[in-house]
Amino acid sequence: MSKRSVGESLEPPEALRIEFVPAVHGFSLPAIGLAYTSTMQWMFRRYHVTTFGCQMNAHDSERIKGMLEELGLGEAASQAEADIVVFNTCTIREKPDTKFAAYMGEAAARKRERPEMIIAVGGCYAEAQRERLFSLYPDVDVAFGPGTIPHLGEWLGAGGFGVERGAWGTGVEREFAATLPMHRERRFQAWVQISMGCNSTCSYCIVPAVRGREVSRRPGDVLAEVTHLAQQGVRELTLLGQNVNSWGRDLLPEIHTEFGELLRACDAVEGIERIRFTSPHPKDFRRPVIEAMAECAAVCEHAHLPLQSGATRILKMMRRTYSRERYLKLVGELRAAIPDLALTTDIIVGFPGETEDDFRETLAVVEEVGFDGAFTFVYSPRAGTDAAAMADQIPDEIKRDRIERLVELVQRLAAERNQERIGRVEEVLVEGPSRTDPSVLRGRTRRNTTVNFTGAAAAGELVDVLIDRASSTTLGGVQQIAVAV
Ligand code: 5AD
Ligand code: SF4
Repeated sequence: MSKRSVGESLEPPEALRIEFVPAVHGFSLPAIGLAYTSTMQWMFRRYHVTTFGCQMNAHDSERIKGMLEELGLGEAASQAEADIVVFNTCTIREKPDTKFAAYMGEAAARKRERPEMIIAVGGCYAEAQRERLFSLYPDVDVAFGPGTIPHLGEWLGAGGFGVERGAWGTGVEREFAATLPMHRERRFQAWVQISMGCNSTCSYCIVPAVRGREVSRRPGDVLAEVTHLAQQGVRELTLLGQNVNSWGRDLLPEIHTEFGELLRACDAVEGIERIRFTSPHPKDFRRPVIEAMAECAAVCEHAHLPLQSGATRILKMMRRTYSRERYLKLVGELRAAIPDLALTTDIIVGFPGETEDDFRETLAVVEEVGFDGAFTFVYSPRAGTDAAAMADQIPDEIKRDRIERLVELVQRLAAERNQERIGRVEEVLVEGPSRTDPSVLRGRTRRNTTVNFTGAAAAGELVDVLIDRASSTTLGGVQQIAVAV
């Protein structure tokens, strides 16, 4: 028999003629990865997932991929080669919305040539546009929200490729995707979702509207997943939640607990060497969490502490529930408890009503804290949020000027902080070869800085690296080989 390329029609081997995949999410589905086409030939179906947005979305995409693979689909290298094109969308700012529109335009053009192609849209933008999605984008076949991922599998499974188009997944109740199979990019690192939704009411933010009220995953379920991951060889965990450190407050009185306890429980799991978490809210960084960070060997010396603004007046309008002084006090407490702590942050410029003086207060806080890194954003009005309706929206050119000044400061401080690492030996978790130079290895320090280094180590190993150079975003060095004496 001659060799055939994947995707080409072929006769099914006998064993594949009647095939059912194992139960997915509690029910059995036909193997839709192999579809019997109208030309009476078998075809291998492939999917492609494009992910926008945060780590929560990246993690949801791992579940989406795992679910599609369990249904018998293979992963396509690009969107152009896929039979099922999935977009896992974000809507936190206008930029991801417009980016999605451009991707969708390309996919729709391809679908006109290949009408059997399926376009599935999930995530936060889909949820936010629930009522209008199919009229905005008539080429979409199926949509689902961040809490309703299993519906994509149900829809595909329900009728293979023959079901009605324009469907929103069946059912509306949110659930953790944690019971779905997972397709992880790296065997030694894993994200673990510990909560969904957010009970804060930041006036600029669309997330509570799309991801709903906060629901914590039960501690036993989280720990069962962490233990299972450790047994599979995972060494680094990142605990995920929209407001990760308020975890536990909504749990029933008999299991009522808090985030510090969860850090301690994860730290005790054998094989877990590094624990990270994102994103915490400064208001929930209470004593037990700080103590757990200080006392747990696996919890990394890094806190991402979203500042948003350095002006108390603006923080009030943002409804962040802390002042500039309280934020700085928290930074002091964290640094006192955890020596060598790396601090990163999120900052928004151009919030409605932000004056030059307010902005200078932000610059002053950034300078005073000396962040190791920052994600900086131009304020983007989101329909339905309180801030979008506020008077005194800031003109684009002022926003642009402020973001440039902020980025310059952030880069200068990050470069200075990284310079301080030169001459030190850092523990690095090896991720593989460098993206730009395959003869060099790449990994991350406990403080979450990327290091490019010369040495010989496999992905997943923890090695010591002597740092000998630094930029604002990366470190460079040489692996230290342990010598027996
Ligand atoms: N405009 C700009 N940035 C925003 N963020 C959230 N909402 C907006 C918005 N409307 C930023 C915040 C948040 C990060 C994930 O995105 O800084 O911490
Ligand atoms: Fe984007 Fe927020 Fe949704 Fe993450 S939770 S994908 S940042 S809108």
